[in-house]
Amino acid sequence: MKKTSLDLPSLSQKDLLCTSALPATDIETIFATAKALKAGRETHTDVLRHKRLAMIFEKDSLRTRFTFDIGMQDLGGSAVFMDHRDARLGSRESVRDVAKNLERWVHGIVARTFKHKVLEELAQHAEIPVINGLSDFVHPCQALSDFFTLTEKWGSVRGRTLTFVGDGNNTCHALIHTAVKLGTNIRVCSPEGYEPNSRVVNEAMRAAQDTGAEVTILNDPEAAAEGADAIYTDVWASMGQEDEIEERNGIFAAYQVDEDLMARAKKGALFMHCLPAHRGWEVTQEVMDGSQSVVYDIAENRLHVQKAVLALLIR
Ligand code: CP
Ligand code: NVA
Repeated sequence: MKKTSLDLPSLSQKDLLCTSALPATDIETIFATAKALKAGRETHTDVLRHKRLAMIFEKDSLRTRFTFDIGMQDLGGSAVFMDHRDARLGSRESVRDVAKNLERWVHGIVARTFKHKVLEELAQHAEIPVINGLSDFVHPCQALSDFFTLTEKWGSVRGRTLTFVGDGNNTCHALIHTAVKLGTNIRVCSPEGYEPNSRVVNEAMRAAQDTGAEVTILNDPEAAAEGADAIYTDVWASMGQEDEIEERNGIFAAYQVDEDLMARAKKGALFMHCLPAHRGWEVTQEVMDGSQSVVYDIAENRLHVQKAVLALLIR
């Protein structure tokens, strides 16, 4: 197996907590690196040789856990997983002390936490990069993989329209932040009371002035789908909201992405979902498994994009 090094520029940030902190140039660097890594999966095994990644997860995961672990192996490094589902980070010892210990042993941390603040605290106290593997606020690795996939499909995402239908949640926030940086129009359609955080929307509207992107928040799914280039949805109840599932299933019933809704979008519009998906709830079986669905392409790209993030952040 060849072991060719990549030419790796630096990102402007130590951590990846939220794409709102990433300049568009950093996102472009991540995408260019991901593209090179994807093209030469067998040839970059020395990039993170002898580097170690700590993975601390307070919630379940399939994609994030596998892709970060495999990503480190692909690049010549290794990952140590710590299942933190029984106790939130900071309960046994302070988050600061967790950071100060880990930085002595490993070269980077991926954490999936309930509270976004815990990630900020980790990043504040650790000298090593901290990567957000999903918090209650945002899911940056997901949004980067989503937009990398769109770039592959469309060439350019600038001026295209992405419609998110469903809960104004972590995935939705990350999509909003990332869309405006890249000049993609973003429409979010949620039931009243479940719209995205107004701070995220206001910040995105300010950032959109630089790229010409439009940010639209609405409650009518049919209007939101009209002429869209892609339709995205996510679960109606996120991890930690299990008690609300029944209530939410009622409130969100009219927000299911089905073939009729897809037909309102542009011909050939893409269907996107971060997964895990609940067929028959936020998306029908037909749309999920239909020809317009790119859900498994996105899942594959989690690996390539996160490898790029690891290669660019870990020193
Ligand atoms: N989309 C995503 O983050 O999947 P997991 O929860 O399985 O990691
Ligand atoms: N919004 C979902 C995303 C899972 C990847 C959750 O937080 O559970």
